[in-house]
Amino acid sequence: MKIVVIGGTGLIGSKLVKKLREHGHDAVAASPNTGVNSVTGEGLVDALKGASVVVDVTNSPSWEDAAVLKFFETSTGNLLANEAVASVGHHVALSVVGTERLLESGFFRAKLAQENLIKASSVPCSIVRATQFFEFVKSIGDFSTDGNKILLPPALIQPMAADDVASAVGRVVMGSPLNGTVEIAGPERFRLDELMRLDLAARKDPREVITDPQGRYYGIKVTENALIPGDAARLGERRFGDWLSQVTRQIPNPHLQPA
Ligand SMILES: NC(=O)c1ccc[n+]([C@@H]2O[C@H](COP(=O)([O-])OP(=O)(O)OC[C@H]3O[C@@H](n4cnc5c(N)ncnc54)[C@H](OP(=O)(O)O)[C@@H]3O)[C@@H](O)[C@H]2O)c1
Repeated sequence: MKIVVIGGTGLIGSKLVKKLREHGHDAVAASPNTGVNSVTGEGLVDALKGASVVVDVTNSPSWEDAAVLKFFETSTGNLLANEAVASVGHHVALSVVGTERLLESGFFRAKLAQENLIKASSVPCSIVRATQFFEFVKSIGDFSTDGNKILLPPALIQPMAADDVASAVGRVVMGSPLNGTVEIAGPERFRLDELMRLDLAARKDPREVITDPQGRYYGIKVTENALIPGDAARLGERRFGDWLSQVTRQIPNPHLQPA
């Protein structure tokens, strides 16, 4: 089966392409780096020839409100129009759990616009909504850093490993179109402030996390349950602590002098 992964050079895309190839599929990584641009349309017609499935795991280079909306609207519109012409049988897109609860952010307004275009299209589809990736936790802290302090609300969060995201998306890709949405998440639930303390401690990062009910998640207010999935979510296996110990073993210790 020919499967075109738009954004196939990114964090999730590269893992997904590898997994699909291991299952014997002809998985093609398509992105500006491989000459395929879903915003300008460059290379799309050729890339989609003979494709059974197109997976959209792109992300916008800019998260500025107008730019990110333009990216997801244009890219998704181009993909769906080209897929209809090429008779692609399944469009799979990666979105975010709780998108409709996070619309104070321009990024999530853009993700909702992407989902709505997919739902309105004639191409059979599956939308996979994932929770925050483990790999993304550090950047949540960086965004909310003020001097040596990180102000965060004690909102619930159920993050997952990028590797588990790619496996879950891969299973959807290999199945029939859901013509609906499925949620995926990690196996454990944390409070955001507590998760950040675990991440910082493992990285020996001296910043202090201040629990602040008025604190923000990526610049926006979130309610206690805004980031967590419903009961039917499909859960990954990798635990945050195991992932963190593996990642931090690979970080050079600045206190160790070379011999
Ligand atoms: N971060 C999270 O915690 C989280 C949680 C849930 C869902 N998600 C969603 O997961 C998706 C993938 O995230 P990621 O972290 O894997 O992204 P990423 O590593 O930033 O990769 C983005 C990919 O998009 C490609 N791309 C950029 N502009 C493009 C264009 N004009 N045409 C075609 N491809 C283009 C990039 O290609 P080049 O390499 O050629 O630039 C790259 O392959 C995003 O849509 C995000 O919303 C993220």
